[in-house]
Amino acid sequence: MIFEIVKSKGLSHKSYFIGSKGAAAVIDPRRDVDIYLDIARAHDMNVELIFETHRNEDYTVGSLELSKLVDAEIHHGAGLDFEYGNPAHEGDIFEIGSLQLEVLETPGHTNESISITVKDKDASDDVYMVFTGDALFAGEVGRCDIYGPGEVEAMAGSLYDSIHEKILPLGEGVIICPAHGSGSVCGAEIRDVDITTVGYEKKTNPLLQKTRKEFVEHKVAERFYIPPYFKRMELNNQQGVDILCRLPQLRSISTVELQEMFESVQVVDVRDPESFAGGHIPGTLNIWNEGIPAFAGWFLNYKTPIVLVDQDGSRIHGVERYLIRLDYDNIYGYLSGGFSSWFKSAGPTETIKTCSVHELREEMEDPSIFLLDVRKEWEWEEERIRGSHNIYLGILEKNLKEVPKDKKIVVYCDSGYKAGVAASILKINGYLDVTNVLGSIMAWKMAGYPTSGD
Ligand SMILES: [Fe+2]
Repeated sequence: MIFEIVKSKGLSHKSYFIGSKGAAAVIDPRRDVDIYLDIARAHDMNVELIFETHRNEDYTVGSLELSKLVDAEIHHGAGLDFEYGNPAHEGDIFEIGSLQLEVLETPGHTNESISITVKDKDASDDVYMVFTGDALFAGEVGRCDIYGPGEVEAMAGSLYDSIHEKILPLGEGVIICPAHGSGSVCGAEIRDVDITTVGYEKKTNPLLQKTRKEFVEHKVAERFYIPPYFKRMELNNQQGVDILCRLPQLRSISTVELQEMFESVQVVDVRDPESFAGGHIPGTLNIWNEGIPAFAGWFLNYKTPIVLVDQDGSRIHGVERYLIRLDYDNIYGYLSGGFSSWFKSAGPTETIKTCSVHELREEMEDPSIFLLDVRKEWEWEEERIRGSHNIYLGILEKNLKEVPKDKKIVVYCDSGYKAGVAASILKINGYLDVTNVLGSIMAWKMAGYPTSGD
């Protein structure tokens, strides 16, 4: 038996390749599918089946892409009218070599969510592992707000029943393979582990210690932001998207070309915030490399061509994959030689001020400062730097009227990365005096400075 976890950084997405005796299945493939082809080739296997645990909302699934390349059948839950693939129902059984895969309907995150159990018939009739999608994670369970606030109570009840009636009875030793790991927008407190079991989750997962009533109340009280691109991913994953066959070839763009096309493209600088602060192309958005999966969907549109800028042009291809997973087929090219080539060719540059938490501590009584916290609202409510105002990064641009133009804007977040994105947005929108607090609240607390909360 071959079993491999394919992780996609940033999205904290996990897909799985499982195979036996020359046949294989892939669970929840991402859109850049070359990795599954590489695994299949390495183990001399044919991918025959593709499963989607649910209609994913945070990325565009690669099922059609992979299916086209390997001629595999796609199966997903029967509770939604997909325009491709085949509906899988409770109890449906699929054979992959000695492996027997069986479908469990486990609604709650979405109505059509399924889990898939695996038995190795050569070894035992017992369930060995289960792919739980967004129903059950390590230390967490899935979101129940996908259909809107009015549906959360019903979905939470449904999720509780799916977990307690379908997944937990599978047996203490059954390995749980969820669709996301720590850091995903699909679960608040997912633990950072690769492997967990039903027994371990029963003992340690705080959500599984609750009664049904407590569980539903907890889910109803839970708060999440829904990035605007989710709607597009949901449609994509229900209707299917264009087949890429391979990653698009990005154009290498000279500094002169970029200057000429600047007004008609979206330029994203993917360097870290301190590099961006030290010098950048005026009018560019800064989203640090690893922040692209979580934040591109808040700020980039799907029509205007996207041009990427990094330090020297060498880190672009990872970003391209991140964007393709979010269906940004309008990615156009990258600045040849990166920002280094820009300033060497005398392109205009701007800077953003930075400060340490010690400097902030000394200056925070200055009445001309507007201290802006761009973390999530509930993080700010729980603990913040005294005197700060909160606007979550994702909704900052829509709420700029709350940020005074006549003050010095000092931005902080967890450690300075999201504050870097916010600083670039403020600069683009005409704020002249913007400072990013490097280290942000993490460094503030490390220095022993006081925080306050409700
Ligand atoms: Fe999901």
